[in-house]
Amino acid sequence: MSSMHVPDLVERRALANGEAGRRWLADLPERVRAIADRWQLVVGNVFSGGTAGLVVAVTDGEGCPAVLKVPMLLDGADHDAFARAVIVHRLAGGNGCAALLASDDEALLLERLGPNVHDLDLTLVDVLGAVTSALSNLWRPVPPHVALPTGADQAAWLATSITRTWDVLEHPCPRPLVDRAVRLCDDLAEGFDPATAVLVHGDAHGWNTVSDGPGWKLVDPEGLRSSREHDLAVLLREYNEVLLAGDTARLVRDRAEWLASRCDADSLLVWKWGFVERVSTGLAGWRHLGPDVGRPFLTVAERTR
Ligand SMILES: Nc1ncnc2c1ncn2[C@@H]1O[C@H](COP(=O)(O)OP(=O)(O)OP(=O)(O)O)[C@@H](O)[C@H]1O
Ligand SMILES: [Mg+2]
Repeated sequence: MSSMHVPDLVERRALANGEAGRRWLADLPERVRAIADRWQLVVGNVFSGGTAGLVVAVTDGEGCPAVLKVPMLLDGADHDAFARAVIVHRLAGGNGCAALLASDDEALLLERLGPNVHDLDLTLVDVLGAVTSALSNLWRPVPPHVALPTGADQAAWLATSITRTWDVLEHPCPRPLVDRAVRLCDDLAEGFDPATAVLVHGDAHGWNTVSDGPGWKLVDPEGLRSSREHDLAVLLREYNEVLLAGDTARLVRDRAEWLASRCDADSLLVWKWGFVERVSTGLAGWRHLGPDVGRPFLTVAERTR
């Protein structure tokens, strides 16, 4: 395993995380070898798409193709996120989300699916269609005892994170934009309805949507108990170039309506979650990856009515 190729972005993320990250990177070949021994796996090629850990093709003891995911677990938040991902895979039972073959406290083994939608070079409308069809298969009730945050929790977290990141970056966009986002977060938290909440993926975009024969399944879930509109909002927040190329406010509304009508959802609620997701992702992208990454999200938000 000493020759295992770690993707550049995974290595960069590890090295940006001090001693804990360096140790994770140094221990990785040995950790993968130990997991492979434990689960009787033959290790193949590393997937290039991951950033939050190692994703590698394997073959299990029965010769079946599978995918081993070894996330970078550096702090309590990473462990929580990993536990939530396992919960989503379990609850989905292979519907709308990759089937879970095995898991423990440091890795998970998934059924091996096909390429993600962006590797297939689909048009944007086909990308949106693929992701919404996977989501429609995923959404299901969440039993009350299951430990997933609610849409209200997430809206409150987004409000805090938006305000804090805007301050850390010394105010990269106008104050009214941030105020508007925070007001909408309050509105979404208040409007959270436990009765209609479902299992929500939380990061359902094309890079997390892989082909499964003629259909599609999601990978890399965040895991929430929230509205379907919350899940659809990620598709509204992404793919900004086309929105910036025309009448942005109208194009955003059109996409919200298209997404809502595909899934029999409420377009205004998709729009509201999309707005707060967009401001939050824009600020976080600016902070961690630079202004070029964050600015398009914020420009779309500024033009949105
Ligand atoms: N079960 C699977 N079958 C086939 N391909 C997969 C599978 N799981 C992941 N992949 C591929 O690996 C890529 C990265 O996987 P994943 O999104 O789980 O990694 P990550 O490091 O958590 O990603 P992110 O950068 O979004 O945090 C996906 O875009 C997909 O192409
Ligand atoms: Mg991913």
